[in-house]
This record gives sequence, C-alpha cells and structure tokens, in this order.
Amino acid sequence: MSAGGRKVKILGILMMFNFFIYIAVEVFRSGNQDKNSKVRVPDKKFWKKIVPSEAYWNKEQHELDLLYNPILTALNSTSSTVEASLNVSQLNPCDPDLGVKTLVKDYNSLPERFKDFLLYMKCRTYPLVVNQPGKCIDQPFLLLAIKSLTPHFDRRQAIRESWGKKGKIGNYTVVTVFLLGNATGMDNFPDLSEMLRYESNKHNDILLWDYRDSFFNLTIKEVLFLEWVTKSCSDVKFIFKGDDDVFVNTYRILEYLKSLGEAKAKDLFIGDVITNAGPHRDKKLKYFIPESIFIGQYPPYAGGGGFLYSGSLALRLYNVSHQVSLYPIDDVYTGMCLKKLGLVPEKHKGFRTFDIEEKYRSNPCAYKSLILVHSRTPQEMIKIWSWLNNPEVTCQ
Ligand SMILES: *[C@@H]1O[C@H](CO)[C@@H](O)[C@H](O)[C@H]1NC(C)=O
Ligand SMILES: *[C@@H]1O[C@H](CO)[C@@H](O)[C@H](O)[C@H]1NC(C)=O
Ligand SMILES: *[C@@H]1O[C@H](CO)[C@@H](O)[C@H](O)[C@H]1NC(C)=O
Ligand SMILES: *[C@@H]1O[C@H](CO)[C@@H](O)[C@H](O)[C@H]1NC(C)=O
Ligand SMILES: *[C@@H]1O[C@H](CO)[C@@H](O)[C@H](O)[C@H]1NC(C)=O
Ligand SMILES: *[C@@H]1O[C@H](CO)[C@@H](O)[C@H](O)[C@H]1NC(C)=O
Repeated sequence: MSAGGRKVKILGILMMFNFFIYIAVEVFRSGNQDKNSKVRVPDKKFWKKIVPSEAYWNKEQHELDLLYNPILTALNSTSSTVEASLNVSQLNPCDPDLGVKTLVKDYNSLPERFKDFLLYMKCRTYPLVVNQPGKCIDQPFLLLAIKSLTPHFDRRQAIRESWGKKGKIGNYTVVTVFLLGNATGMDNFPDLSEMLRYESNKHNDILLWDYRDSFFNLTIKEVLFLEWVTKSCSDVKFIFKGDDDVFVNTYRILEYLKSLGEAKAKDLFIGDVITNAGPHRDKKLKYFIPESIFIGQYPPYAGGGGFLYSGSLALRLYNVSHQVSLYPIDDVYTGMCLKKLGLVPEKHKGFRTFDIEEKYRSNPCAYKSLILVHSRTPQEMIKIWSWLNNPEVTCQ
C-alpha cells in the first residue's frame, strides 16, 4: 500500500472512533438528564465540615486552623480578628490554663509531665536571661545550635574543642551557641548557676531562657531558638541544630553546603527523616502520647539528634509556628511546621542517629564522609576530631 493510501485508511479509522465516542457521550448525557433537562443544584450544603477528633491537641489545632484560614478570616470584616480571638480565648497565655483539667478527659490520671505540659501549652514567651546579642554580627555562614542542659559542662567543652570550634573554616564563618533552659531544684538539679555564669562569661556562647528545661519543653526550646534567629541572627545562611551527645563532621557539612545550588539551598532541610510514624501508645516509653492528647499520624520529620536547614527557612518556620499548637515532642513539632509550609524534610544518609556498625566505630576513615553520628562521649568527640585533622590519616 502507498503511503498516501495508508494515511487515508488511518484517517478513516480515527473518524469512526470519534463517531463512536460522540454516540457514547450522547447516550450517557440523555441518561443523566432529568425530564426538564435542568442543571440540578443541591438544596443543601454540598461540603462537609471537618470534625476534629476528640483528642485535645487535635481540637486546639483545629481552632488555630480556623483562626488562620484566609477565606474565613476574610469573611470577618475586622482585620484584627486573629488577635481579638486570641485575646478572648485566654487573657494571659502564660498563666496556667486550668481549663485543660476538664477538657482533657483523663487529665487526672495522666503522668505529671503531661499535666505540666498541658497547663502551659499556650505559653510561648519566656525571658532570655543570658543572650549573645553580637553573635551573628559577621553574618555567619553556618550557625551550630546545640541543645544542652546546665550540668553538661564537659559535653559543651568537648564540642568547643572539636566540631563546634568557632571561627573560620576556609572562607566560611562558623559560630556556635548552646541552648539552655533553667535546670532547677524542682527537678533535683544541683544549683550550678554560678558555674554557668563563669562559663558563659568565658565563652560567650550560652543562650539561657527562664523556663524549666525538661524533655516536653524541648518544643519551647525550638520555638524560642527560632525567635532568637529571627531577631538576632536573621542573616545566617545555614543552621545545624542538634544534641550535645552527637559527633558532627563540620567539614563534611561545609563541603555539602558549598555544592548546593541556590534553589535547593533556600528550602534546605535535611536529616535522618522518619516517615509514616505515629504516637507511641505504650505508657512505659519516653515518647508515649495518650489518645486523649493526640490522634493521627506524624508528618515526616527529622530526628532531633541533628538536622541541617537554611536560615531563610528558619524565619519561615518561626512565622508559621504561631499557627501550630505546641506538641510535646520537639522534632515532630518541627515536622508539623514544615508541613504547614508545604515542605517535606529530606533524608540524607550522612546522618547516622542510630550509629554506624560497631566494627567501623574506631576506624578514622568511617567518619570522613559522615555528617552526624549519635551518640559519642566528650572524649570520643575529641578523638574523632583529631582523626579528621590528622594529615597522616589517608583514606581513599
Ligand atoms: C468570625 O467572627 C465571629 C463573630 O465574631 C466568630 O464567632 C468567628 O469565630 C470568627 N471566625 C473566624 C474564622 O475568625
Ligand atoms: C489584646 O489584649 C491586650 C492586653 O490585654 C491589649 O493591649 C490589646 O489591645 C488586645 N488586642 C485586641 C485586638 O483586642
Ligand atoms: C575565599 O574567597 C576569596 C574571595 O571571595 C576567593 O578568591 C578564594 O578563592 C576563596 N577561598 C576558598 C578556599 O574558597
Ligand atoms: C532561672 O535562671 C536564672 C539565671 O540563673 C535566674 O535568674 C532565675 O531566677 C531562674 N528561674 C527559676 C525559676 O529558677
Ligand atoms: C515548661 O516550662 C514552664 C516554665 O518554666 C513550666 O511551668 C512547665 O511546667 C514546663 N513544662 C514541662 C512539661 O516541664
Ligand atoms: C510571615 O508571615 C507574614 C504573614 O503571615 C508575611 O507577611 C511575612 O512575609 C512572613 N515572613 C516570613 C519571613 O516568611
């Protein structure tokens, strides 16, 4: 058959096909139309309201979602609706919120840490008693922010002498701050405030806020830190935030950051990302959350041992944090804020929060390509750092 003949044949088949589709659509339409062939408009609302679950956090979050819903707030004429509603709901959000005693159905039988959390869940302002206002005056490239506890003097000193050494690496300015709350007699901590004052004056790297430094208050530490970045370090390019019992290969971080394109750098958030997780319901676990407080899945989040993100994202995270109810687990909370921003944290295999295989732990070369290893003692930190700086250690 000639090429022209084939074209005619294909055209014919296509036309037949079109015709059948036309018939099919017509038959379908006539079947769907009612006798008056009018468009049917439902006489009831055709959307469903989201009904939040009975869990306390979910209900609180639902309220915030309504408050910050741009369509609903546009319907309410006054521009200060958000502020006004916040005012009405509670006069001073830092007074204990006694309402939770009745709103959380099993409040009385919950462990004390949950009661403490719930009573102060709406409070986000605590005084900064030790500040380092000039810390970011040179527009650092990398800010290392380390969650610590007052008694951990040796961990902080080991970090200062190793991976958290402040100054220049190549052309890049690195600064370090330690994030502390008050370790008080209430939690049976000895009074170390004099020693902390000495340390702070000597090193100028302590940020201390006046709130109780407990596990469930780590989310407060996160929000207060983001506020501090917004107010005092808003030009920083990148931030590493992590625990004081991890080893961090600062060289590897800088190498990684140098190689980033501008688009990726802006929204950067990497770490050991956990997906498809949810609250633990076993009362004996550290991460236990009762059903009366939270129901649902967790968004993807980077384990709190350490993650790396851009300074620009830190400002957006602080901004959006006002729209997310405080949650007692800090890394999950950060995941919730990222989700609100429409971002997903990225898993990077250099973050080894569950350590490396035992047989490699004393091999200097095992640390060259890693970003983070958990956990390491102060002495191990100093030893590993010396390996990374030893020109005689050659790894292919
Ligand atoms: C709109 O205003 C009404 C009346 O002041 C209030 O009850 C409602 O919660 C407001 N809605 C939002 C989304 O702020
Ligand atoms: C909220 O309360 C504070 C202090 O009580 C007051 O200064 C402020 O004007 C109130 N804001 C609104 C929008 O009502
Ligand atoms: C440091 O910066 C200067 C000027 O910006 C540049 O010429 C030099 O190559 C940089 N050095 C390194 C090690 O990146
Ligand atoms: C927290 O620590 C600061 C500084 O040491 C001190 O001034 C303040 O009284 C402490 N707060 C509490 C509740 O102990
Ligand atoms: C968090 O800190 C505040 C302020 O010190 C305190 O009142 C509250 O009990 C703490 N919450 C927890 C869960 O420790
Ligand atoms: C913070 O949010 C406000 C509005 O909610 C917006 O105007 C502002 O640009 C945001 N800032 C940042 C740094 O995202």
